[in-house]
Amino acid sequence: MSTLASNLAAPRATAIRPPRMARRLPGVRRAATYLIHRIADRIAASLDYRGRVIDLGCGIAPYKSMILAQADEYVGVDWRHSPHGDAQVDICADLTRPLPLAEAQADTVVSFQVMEHLPEPARFLRECHRLLRPGGRVHLTVPFMWHVHEAPHDYFRYTRHGLEHLLTKAGFTDIRIEAYGGFWTTWVLKFNYHTLRRTRGAGIVLAVALVPVWLLGQWLAPMLDRLEPRADEATGYIASATKPGPHAIS
Ligand SMILES: C[S@@+](CC[C@H](N)C(=O)[O-])C[C@H]1O[C@@H](n2cnc3c(N)ncnc32)[C@H](O)[C@@H]1O
Repeated sequence: MSTLASNLAAPRATAIRPPRMARRLPGVRRAATYLIHRIADRIAASLDYRGRVIDLGCGIAPYKSMILAQADEYVGVDWRHSPHGDAQVDICADLTRPLPLAEAQADTVVSFQVMEHLPEPARFLRECHRLLRPGGRVHLTVPFMWHVHEAPHDYFRYTRHGLEHLLTKAGFTDIRIEAYGGFWTTWVLKFNYHTLRRTRGAGIVLAVALVPVWLLGQWLAPMLDRLEPRADEATGYIASATKPGPHAIS
């Protein structure tokens, strides 16, 4: 993951296909927000997935096929209150409670953009640790500067230091934390989401007028973040950590 931060802070806006998640969005929303979905795609594509992978808070499981290109098995976990439905959910469970899964059964645990929704993150990380075989790895992504979403189940924003503290306390080692996005990415996406909300009820004319502004901002922001990287500005973080012990995929 050594080059991850620089790649993710500055995704190039020249890919031919829209990002994996954004492909499912209506056109106007896609135009306003594609950058964050492209960043999420790049993060998911940059991680390693081994053996049995458990995806905690899987939603619509946008990275299932990407994960299965590397791993042997994928298990999606989400709860009955999910705003994303249960079509991709293999196990329905509340991540705030002890999970109905035996210990040491996963080689990789992933949880993308979920921990901000959990009122007891320390307990959740202990569950991730319990589920992993020794040597197994957890990959988390969390927002840092991002609006409240999926309310009322939105409790926290994390810094690099908070993540390191929580992962260490849960028993993880080899902790690697990288920022994604930066000041300009965050600012442009905030502008786009805010103005996108204003287009509702204002009609299609405003939306059409804003599309070039949205696209230009998302094209420029990654370049500006590359030119002016700042350690104290991030859209969010990617954290990976290991459960200590010799690893053997069963
Ligand atoms: C922002 S979505 C992310 C979904 C998916 N990981 C992704 O990257 O597209 C957060 C997910 O966490 C799930 N979630 C939130 N609180 C939960 C809880 N207490 N138990 C189980 N799932 C939860 C939501 O249902 C939702 O699917």
